[in-house]
Amino acid sequence: MENDRIPPERRRFFLIIMLSGIGAVLAAAASWPVWQYLAPRKGVGEKEKVTIPRDQVPLGGTHFFTFRGHPAVVLQEKAGVFIALTAVCTHLGCIIKWLPEKGEFECPCHAGSFSPTGTVLGGPPPKPLESYPVSVQDDSIVIG
Ligand code: FES
Repeated sequence: MENDRIPPERRRFFLIIMLSGIGAVLAAAASWPVWQYLAPRKGVGEKEKVTIPRDQVPLGGTHFFTFRGHPAVVLQEKAGVFIALTAVCTHLGCIIKWLPEKGEFECPCHAGSFSPTGTVLGGPPPKPLESYPVSVQDDSIVIG
């Protein structure tokens, strides 16, 4: 009967393996929501087009909206000329705002500035704002 007993070292090893496995499963379960939040959304809305009524974008003014799951902005720079850009600053991702009196976009976080076409005018942003295709169809602006 004594020979059937499992030695304490072996039991300890088995216990460590079991607890490690349970710990790994719990860690994976806890980090899954974080992974889902941070992972890029592939395929969702990639072909998406957004239609905005033309009267929502006044001359010299902007309209902010969501495009492919991210903040975006459309500007009517000149009569009938619309420019659509990401509204996410290329520095650290703050949302830009339009300054009509200056005719440029400004990032409120570190004072980065962009031209109406998204070119970097100053501050720390390392690259221009991404632009999106725009077409005007009757009384609508179609982005994408
Ligand atoms: S996040 Fe826009 S300038 Fe830093």
